[in-house]
Amino acid sequence: MTMELILKAPAKINLGLTIIGRRDDGYHDLESVMQQISLHDVLKISAYENGGVSFYCSDKSLSGPDNLVVKAAELLLDRAGCDLPGVRIELYKNIPVEAGLAGGSSDAAAAMFGLNRTLGLNLKLEELMELGALLGSDVPYCLQGGTALVRGRGEVLESLPGLPFFWVVLALPAGIKISTAEAYRTFNCSKIGQPSMNALIKAVKQGNRNEIWEWLSTDFTNTLETADLPETRKALSLKNKLKELGLPAVYSGSGPTLFILSRDYNLARNAVKAIEQLDAKAILCWTIN
Ligand code: C5P
Repeated sequence: MTMELILKAPAKINLGLTIIGRRDDGYHDLESVMQQISLHDVLKISAYENGGVSFYCSDKSLSGPDNLVVKAAELLLDRAGCDLPGVRIELYKNIPVEAGLAGGSSDAAAAMFGLNRTLGLNLKLEELMELGALLGSDVPYCLQGGTALVRGRGEVLESLPGLPFFWVVLALPAGIKISTAEAYRTFNCSKIGQPSMNALIKAVKQGNRNEIWEWLSTDFTNTLETADLPETRKALSLKNKLKELGLPAVYSGSGPTLFILSRDYNLARNAVKAIEQLDAKAILCWTIN
């Protein structure tokens, strides 16, 4: 009998991100508060009698063997070792690619979680997270989800109390993508350790909506905003235009996506209109726990 599982793979935003330093392995230690949002991809996973991994992606440019979902499936099947049925994974994309929203990492995390269940592998969450770190720095967080303080290369996680509900308006500058590796290669090293995450962490721990809002309204919330890339400059130009309209937009992850949090639905709708009038793409979603 074929067992079928349908899973959501949610995007994340970084409420703040500080690069702490460069590591010997070429990665960077960071400190970041991450939050899952309702925007998600969908994965359909089924097990078949015959072996191997069969993969379909609604976005043809992502349907090759390099997709992290295929790599996640191969890694998990390899780890489980014994005689296993084949798997079919279908991935339906909604999350913009190379946008600082961890779409690929979240797909990989959902694939690992789903295959663990579908194939009855019984791996613990910690084991999945350890394997996930081999695929990408954001995969452990995507497996855990919710609101979290993320340290190390991305594999050291501390759960934080769920963020109070906010509408999240994403603003994507038209037609640009940023490779994470490029953002880390070109950020301004003199900004290492900035901005400090302490006030944000305290506000999130206390569930203090006003202080969270105040922190997010500051000008500089993410070391990777200093990346010396034309795409980053375009995103910052959009951020400045939104600020002039009284909309404090925050830079997510390695960019270029910006987000605006709002408690009020009508304000969120107005932010959508303002973003669209600036020829950027707007997506209205919300925080999830
Ligand atoms: O881990 P992931 O494959 O997402 O990372 C992509 C690239 O981003 C890495 O090859 C590395 O250059 C950079 N990176 C980093 N420090 C991190 C995460 C990513 O330097 N903590």
